[in-house]
Amino acid sequence: MNTEIASAGTPEQEAEAVRRAVELLRAGEIVGLPTETVYGLGADAFNADAVARVFESKERPHFDPLIVHLPDVSALKGVADVPDDISKVLNRLIDKFWPGPLTIILPKNPAVPDIVTGGLDTIAVRMSANPVFQKIVKELGSPIAAPSANRFGSISPTSANAVMKELEGRIPLIVDGGGCWEGLESTIIRIEKGLPKCTFHILRSGPVTPEDLRPYGKSVVDGPHVATEKGVIEAPGQLDSHYAPRTPLRLLENPADFKPDPDKTYALLSYRGRVKDGYNRLTDYKRVAVLSPGSGKMPEAAVRLFFLMRELDEAGVDEIIAEPVPERGLGIAIMERLRRAAT
Ligand code: TXA
Ligand code: MG
Repeated sequence: MNTEIASAGTPEQEAEAVRRAVELLRAGEIVGLPTETVYGLGADAFNADAVARVFESKERPHFDPLIVHLPDVSALKGVADVPDDISKVLNRLIDKFWPGPLTIILPKNPAVPDIVTGGLDTIAVRMSANPVFQKIVKELGSPIAAPSANRFGSISPTSANAVMKELEGRIPLIVDGGGCWEGLESTIIRIEKGLPKCTFHILRSGPVTPEDLRPYGKSVVDGPHVATEKGVIEAPGQLDSHYAPRTPLRLLENPADFKPDPDKTYALLSYRGRVKDGYNRLTDYKRVAVLSPGSGKMPEAAVRLFFLMRELDEAGVDEIIAEPVPERGLGIAIMERLRRAAT
């Protein structure tokens, strides 16, 4: 199969890209789509055959459930059965964070094909803030099931070119909506009802941080779990090595622990690129990439993380050394990705 990239750079190109994407999605095809977090591999969520193609082309195991992206808030009731006791807090979260990088786990509406949720009785839903994605999903008029557009276990793509590297020959079209402005996958939460406030279990850290959620309830970082009506089980998809470059990556918490092997070549994924942080002079790196040059700003580091991980992966070194970042705010999500890349 020939994979094409449709640019959405000008209004005319965008209209044509939207038209072609919708045409393919209606025909049960799968399409690479830009979102504000990472690129997704989209299928009509109500077309089980199309959703099966998503699993196939990513080589993703069927038990690892997908996120469903809504065209608008009114489409929520078509995919989820919202319990009365969380509807108030849910509406407040939706008002504040949608469209945007917050995915919420809710009881699934039986109308959604089981393949979308890997047979679970819960469903992960969000609404993307990317304007091109929004046009496509509204025009389609049906929710889009979309995992990140990478082969299973590898780094999420934050550009159309990165999707091409992952899935060329496996999908007909990638809509190029430019770079993703968040750069990390959405925050995933499960809501636990409670009085006076609910608890949010963060199953995957992301752009929406525990501080952002604080006005609405208490957050606990739970890590990879799947919520079901009967309780909580482990989320298979989040446990194994993920976001992993092909080149081994070592998260070096303490620079003093590093004993370079003279026969090996190294690249450094640096946080601020500052010598005084103690990493830059540990060895004669073949390549150094800096997440947030100078300033150490977390949004910048987040946006560049996957992009630079890909770049270093292609540098042909034996090992990538990653510097830790401060574990607060967005830094929590970045460290979660680095730890998983390192396992
Ligand atoms: O930002 C994002 O969330 C991107 C863009 C494309 O929207 N999507 C994304 O999808 O990261 P994916 O499939 O790569 O990650 C979805 C995660 C998986 O780890 C899966 O296990 C979890 O969401 N998930 C899906 N449904 C779930 C459920 N019912 N309970 C718990 N976890 C669930
Ligand atoms: Mg993924």
